Amino acid sequence: MSESVSIIGLGLMGRALAETLLAAGHRVTVWNRSAAKADDLVANGATRAATAAEAVEASPLVIVCVLDYAAVHEILDPVPLTGRVVLNLTNGRPAEARETARWVAERGGDYVDGGIMAVPQMIGGPGALILYSGSQTAFDRYEETLRPLARPHYLGTDAGLAPLYDLALLTGMYGQIAGTLSAMALLRSEKRPLADFTASLLVPWLSAMAGLQPAWAAAIEAGEHATEVSNLEVNRVGMANLVHAFAEQGASLDLLLPMKKIIDDRVARGHGAEGLSGLIEEL
Ligand SMILES: NC(=O)c1ccc[n+]([C@@H]2O[C@H](COP(=O)([O-])OP(=O)(O)OC[C@H]3O[C@@H](n4cnc5c(N)ncnc54)[C@H](OP(=O)(O)O)[C@@H]3O)[C@@H](O)[C@H]2O)c1
Repeated sequence: MSESVSIIGLGLMGRALAETLLAAGHRVTVWNRSAAKADDLVANGATRAATAAEAVEASPLVIVCVLDYAAVHEILDPVPLTGRVVLNLTNGRPAEARETARWVAERGGDYVDGGIMAVPQMIGGPGALILYSGSQTAFDRYEETLRPLARPHYLGTDAGLAPLYDLALLTGMYGQIAGTLSAMALLRSEKRPLADFTASLLVPWLSAMAGLQPAWAAAIEAGEHATEVSNLEVNRVGMANLVHAFAEQGASLDLLLPMKKIIDDRVARGHGAEGLSGLIEEL
């Protein structure tokens, strides 16, 4: 079913959202602070709003995807929101999302927050995921409209949940990037080729290790950190070896050094027999 959707913010991500909703057959109205970014979309069938107020007026579903929440407030502050669903796909923090949900509700609108787990090129493709939280009525009403953008995952009525889970997933990603870059630095210390190492060894290794993580989650939820694999004392020695090796090879382990300190501290507190999941107690 064709729906009217307005999109405010036509940066890299907003444009990808608009293109995908247009291609799915929706009636898309667009507004961006720098108007020229709407030109291609208008040539492809979108309607240009002259102001943000005009964009909000044009559709019951208003998607906002701009730099930050300060920009969201700046744009929507002077605009009536009565009867509108505001879907904010701008990256932010749980506290900002909760405050914005209250602010939109006070002004007569319904609020859904979203976290986009994709780069713009992935929008509309099979690997894209969008986390949603906030008004369940609004999410249910527009779930199918939004589905062409990415697989939807609704987390609950608390608007802060989408950014909370978004930040948790990004945190996991940064940890993986830190390990990958450090591994590459070590190989580069001996001028070893990186592409084959990454594709044939590192990625399969990381995938195999990722398979253990649901068991860690269960251990953490149970508060039960006994292990029959490698305990913290073994990892303390392993980490010291890693630090020594990196120094000898002239590479930096700075991205991972905080983990060494936390392992050392945990062992010093008498928990050397625990598994790595026990480190959660230090976090
Ligand atoms: N790109 C990604 O891979 C990615 C992935 C996931 C989530 N996101 C999130 O999506 C959001 C947008 O990202 P993006 O990649 O589209 O960024 P971008 O290309 O830098 O675009 C930023 C957008 O915000 C607008 N903007 C900034 N300050 C504004 C203000 N004070 N008033 C009005 N408009 C303002 C810009 O308008 P002008 O064109 O006028 O400057 C532009 O439309 C961010 O929250 C980002 O974290 C991005």
